[in-house]
Amino acid sequence: MGDPKGADNLATSNPTSLSPDTPSTHIRTALESDAMAIAQLHQRAFGPGRFALTAYRVREAGEFDMRCNQVALVDNEIVGAVGFTPIEIGETANALLLGPLAVDPKHTNIGLGSHLIRAGSHAANSQGIKLIILVGDLAFYQRLGFVAVPPGQITMPGPVNPARLLALELSPGALKDYRGPITAA
Ligand SMILES: CC(C)(COP(=O)(O)OP(=O)(O)OC[C@H]1O[C@@H](n2cnc3c(N)ncnc32)[C@H](O)[C@@H]1OP(=O)(O)O)[C@@H](O)C(=O)NCCC(=O)NCCS
Repeated sequence: MGDPKGADNLATSNPTSLSPDTPSTHIRTALESDAMAIAQLHQRAFGPGRFALTAYRVREAGEFDMRCNQVALVDNEIVGAVGFTPIEIGETANALLLGPLAVDPKHTNIGLGSHLIRAGSHAANSQGIKLIILVGDLAFYQRLGFVAVPPGQITMPGPVNPARLLALELSPGALKDYRGPITAA
């Protein structure tokens, strides 16, 4: 599995243990039976129009990796979720597309989004995943170790602002090995 820089960073935090101020909050692996609650969460967090996003074209074509998907619960209610879809980039596998990431607007800014990504990345690392890709704001994701993909190196099946195509290396130097179009694995 290697000893990736990204995973090292993530290892500084126990994803199942949040602030003592939020004792009823925890993160766990998502289950098939969570699907309805996660869909309702997406409605609350994103509103209409989310299916127009380019990233959804990849997700529509692929299955979620249920070993990595995570949910956050407060008082046993799902208030946060992150999904991962196995992808190939060019012809190179062992990569995931992260998303959607959503936290209920009533429970933002207490660390749930960051913990969901850390927990999912740990699970991915243990499955031999080398690289996680997403489309999002570098200002949020850089604290979790994500960097901007060099323009043109990796392409999505639709228009994406190159500054929003981000990568987290779970294996040191992995990003340089991934070139070309993203397709569902
Ligand atoms: C983005 C989102 C997942 C963050 O979840 P969260 O649980 O609040 O995240 P955390 O508590 O771990 O982190 C909050 C911090 O991130 C910052 N942040 C949130 N969204 C940000 C963004 N788009 N750009 C920069 N910073 C952002 C907050 O200001 C806060 O900063 P602080 O720690 O300095 O106070 C949540 O707001 C959400 O679901 N938004 C709607 C859906 C969405 O945009 N999903 C992401 C798609 S890329």
